[in-house]
Amino acid sequence: MSLLQWIDLPVRGDHRGSLVAVEAGDTVPFEIRRVYYVFDTQPGVARGFHAHRQLQQVAVCVSGKCRMVVDDGRHREDAWLDSPARGLVIDAMVWHEMHEFSADCVLLVLASAHYDEADYIRNYESFLAAARVNCQ
Ligand code: TYD
Repeated sequence: MSLLQWIDLPVRGDHRGSLVAVEAGDTVPFEIRRVYYVFDTQPGVARGFHAHRQLQQVAVCVSGKCRMVVDDGRHREDAWLDSPARGLVIDAMVWHEMHEFSADCVLLVLASAHYDEADYIRNYESFLAAARVNCQ
């Protein structure tokens, strides 16, 4: 089964342009407790390189594009986030990395909890060990 879980975000367009509305419990399968966005990423910079123990997230490129790598400790996949009409679910215990940001990339992330550094696993070996325990 693919690790790439997409959420379609219907575009409510009219002659003036486009609009996307995101609602917790409807389009997004968790209560949204935090929204953050990454922009102005400098050339050649990659971000992420961590997993979360509990946090669930949905990432949407509302402008430009970047390449998201997701890894559950057994499989690694990647995909371009390049549409404001499609979000990628990043579940708990999924290692993720963002690469190849375009200069105009604005990556919006909807998250299920407030920022908590204790929820991060930032070391890949520690992530693999924790993912193995989770599978048992
Ligand atoms: P980090 O999660 O390490 O960024 P990335 O994984 O995209 O490379 O966060 C970068 C910094 O911003 C770090 O010092 C923590 C801080 N931060 C917050 O204060 N609140 C937040 O919601 C997020 C996501 C990060």
